[in-house]
Amino acid sequence: MPRPVRFAVPGDAAALLGLQHALDDESRFMLFEPDERDHDPARLRHRLEAQAGGTDPSYTVVADADADAEGTDEALAGYVGVTVSPLARSRRTGYVVMGVRASHARRGIGRALLGAAAEAARRRGLRRLELVVMTHNHAALNLYLTCGFVVEGLRRSGLEIDGRPVDQYHMGLLF
Ligand SMILES: CC(C)(COP(=O)(O)OP(=O)(O)OC[C@H]1O[C@@H](n2cnc3c(N)ncnc32)[C@H](O)[C@@H]1OP(=O)(O)O)[C@@H](O)C(=O)NCCC(=O)NCCS
Repeated sequence: MPRPVRFAVPGDAAALLGLQHALDDESRFMLFEPDERDHDPARLRHRLEAQAGGTDPSYTVVADADADAEGTDEALAGYVGVTVSPLARSRRTGYVVMGVRASHARRGIGRALLGAAAEAARRRGLRRLELVVMTHNHAALNLYLTCGFVVEGLRRSGLEIDGRPVDQYHMGLLF
């Protein structure tokens, strides 16, 4: 059983950054190459403060790792970030980015995170969640399809990884 998921608070900044670095290192499916990401959690803490204070409509849902990792860089097992624009015309759409540590994969954490993010989107009056996923990322594709996301388009050669062009699907979930 996954531990319960919860909204991130500013005090999670260092652990969330630690999780993002771990995912950049261990997964070929995130946007950042290892070492492209900031090492200072200050900017992330500022963003989480704005989310908690309501000045940024975006939100972040996290899953705690095992209790013995508490207080370390490995305190979080996974996260979903939902970015929402404050602009009137796009404020009912959220853009999803997510990841779960390989050490915690296939325990239902990804599904619990995405379910909580979708429930929060509904409560906040969003009409749509959207994301892009590499076409060969079968684990994520399966998760998104079984959570109700639909493939809406193909983004051809939008990324380059190891010198090779990579296609992505645009996916969306409407409420
Ligand atoms: C994709 C990811 C978020 C799934 O997280 P997870 O916690 O392992 O997923 P869950 O255990 O909740 O599984 C949910 C569903 O995802 C699919 N899935 C997960 N891992 C899978 C795998 N290795 N192969 C095929 N399907 C898989 C299945 O449909 C699964 O449902 P099931 O267990 O009932 O069959 C995780 O593997 C991950 O973070 N990968 C690296 C980063 C990444 O790809 N992020 C998304 C970028 S768009």
